[in-house]
Amino acid sequence: MIRPKLFAAFALLTLSGYAAADLSPEQAERAVETRQSVLHLMGWNMAPLGAMARGRMDFDAERVETNAGRLLALSRMLSDAFAADTRANDVSTEALDAIWEQPEAFASKIEATIEASNRLLTVAGTADEGAMREAIGNLGSTCGSCHDDFRVDD
Ligand code: HEC
Repeated sequence: MIRPKLFAAFALLTLSGYAAADLSPEQAERAVETRQSVLHLMGWNMAPLGAMARGRMDFDAERVETNAGRLLALSRMLSDAFAADTRANDVSTEALDAIWEQPEAFASKIEATIEASNRLLTVAGTADEGAMREAIGNLGSTCGSCHDDFRVDD
């Protein structure tokens, strides 16, 4: 009974270690699609919050809380979503090579977004508009800060 377990362990190791190995074109495309999907959903959840903070939409504390919780979950997916190093592949992406060249700096940008989502989730529960506006602004700046260093300029 040890063998199947060992095999499973090795299969997992191979899967989680694939970042270091070459990716097939299909694997690379899937990796790009996955990370862009996570970020697309982050944008979708952030959009109404930005509109509320800018006064273009009425504040809705419940919506803020829901979306902050989703953004927290999504931001926690970022490190896994970017684990596959697609530098060597011909893929359509806005991800800069710096992501895999400076993994610690990239990880700290992710950490900042996780923390800011968490802070927003905390103040959303208090329904304090000023605090929510500030926390949304802080969260938005953590998105922008990573885009500045690690995403192709639009
Ligand atoms: C740790 C870095 C990092 C953080 C934090 C981050 N992003 Fe991004 N984002 C990227 C990178 C890199 C891309 C380009 C990905 C690609 O094209 O493969 C991207 C792409 C996007 C896209 C385009 C997705 C698509 O459809 O191709 C949106 C929308 C987006 N980010 C929104 C956000 C929002 C909103 C936040 C904060 C709540 C955020 N991002 C936080 C790095 C980050």
